[in-house]
Amino acid sequence: MQSSEANNTAELYSRLTDLAEKPVLRIPQQEMESYLQYFEKHCAGSKRMTDAAKKFIPGGVQHNLAFNYPFPLVIVKAEGAYLYDTDGNRYIDFLQAGGPTVLGSNYPAVREKVIQLISECGPSTGLFHEYEYKLAELVSRLIPSVEMFRMVGSGTEAVMASLRLARVITGKKYIIKCGGAYHGWSDQMVYGMRIPGTGRFDAHGIPTGSTRYINEVFPNDLKVLEKRLKINRLLGGTAAVILEPVGPESGTRPVDDNYNASVRKLCDQYGALLIFDEVVTAFRISMNGAQGYYGVTPDLTVFGKVIAGGYPGAGGIGGRREYMERFAAGLQTGKKVMVGGTMAATPLSAAAGYFSLLEMESNDACGKAARAGDLLTTGLQKLISSYGLPYVAYNQGSICHLETTGTLFIKLNYLKIFKVLEEIKKRKHVMEEMGAAYMAEGLVTLAGSRMYTSMADTDEIIEDALSRFENVFKKIKTKAS
Ligand SMILES: Cc1ncc(COP(=O)(O)O)c(C=O)c1O
Repeated sequence: MQSSEANNTAELYSRLTDLAEKPVLRIPQQEMESYLQYFEKHCAGSKRMTDAAKKFIPGGVQHNLAFNYPFPLVIVKAEGAYLYDTDGNRYIDFLQAGGPTVLGSNYPAVREKVIQLISECGPSTGLFHEYEYKLAELVSRLIPSVEMFRMVGSGTEAVMASLRLARVITGKKYIIKCGGAYHGWSDQMVYGMRIPGTGRFDAHGIPTGSTRYINEVFPNDLKVLEKRLKINRLLGGTAAVILEPVGPESGTRPVDDNYNASVRKLCDQYGALLIFDEVVTAFRISMNGAQGYYGVTPDLTVFGKVIAGGYPGAGGIGGRREYMERFAAGLQTGKKVMVGGTMAATPLSAAAGYFSLLEMESNDACGKAARAGDLLTTGLQKLISSYGLPYVAYNQGSICHLETTGTLFIKLNYLKIFKVLEEIKKRKHVMEEMGAAYMAEGLVTLAGSRMYTSMADTDEIIEDALSRFENVFKKIKTKAS
């Protein structure tokens, strides 16, 4: 992984909290109206279809990432670094399906293999297929901590399985996660989401028992983690600490370079397993995962996204043989850990993953995507500084962050909770406006604040993207302007 500057975590946090404490900057009303006009004038087909869909789909879209403001766009074509909507508009695609397509969208060499496979045996059979073996062997070669690999249907399922396995192996119940981290939407993990300290805030419809043995600790804070491990020891012990090695939410809350190694030591000291959730980072940060980059070996690794190269059925767990054997399929005796899924490890998912990883390895896709991430981030940093904006841009290789509102860094104050929630709502709307402005300028981002780059992002494409970002930034009025 490269990154535009050696990210100084303490300084980044201070700038991010500073941003959250300052009044939020908005695109002036008239300029925003003309951005909204773009959608009315140029995206009528999308509006018609997504309006009609509201009758049948709750909220009008099925996917949480489909940008909603002012209305979702209907995408009809994805190719490399570009997306095309139903009205014929082209966008530079920094969403990249939420991260899985490090080769760029719809990579022809993988697509051809998938089409060939589907023509021969269809997408699924329920029986053994050569690609489930080939993918498992390849993952094990690329990531040495993965002696065995079990494929499941999604990252959410893989996290669930990893927690279950950790409890069986250790005989302990508690799971510690970092506050603000997203590890999928299973009952247990809807706890401390997005903003640290929010606990069961989003756990509607989830019985308290489901999250009873989940603790959240503040990211990048080893003291709090050790304190929690100590308390849990008195209560029966911690089965696992689960974390994203780059920090929660793909590094939206970054961690120090030595954080993972220190957590490894603490886990060993307190007899807890270390689970790396590499749903985003495996085969994006490097072909050896973030664990290869940081040189830290987890007990279990959770996979998703890139593991199926952007095709459906993207999930898996890997780790030491003696642990992983508990996942053996079929009817077993003994303490087997239950996992399953009709659509787990289909020939389609496994072949798509296998050929994507091979293509990525031979083309140095992670290196090229990271270089594009560096170029994008240094360009954004220059723009931010030249327009005197309080924004914060940084990257971990091909994961780029552009914080313009500091929404997730608002300090929680339960005594003034209504005021805090009001402020979060306001800032979220400004984020939506920023996302809409980028979109009208021909840029697709993740919620207006994160960009995934891919191998398809040439220097020219990044230059083009930067000039589009600049069109938005120059409209923002600061006190100095
Ligand atoms: C770090 C992390 N873990 C788990 C998940 C859940 O994966 P999935 O969406 O495949 O269920 C995600 C999804 O974005 C993720 O980013």
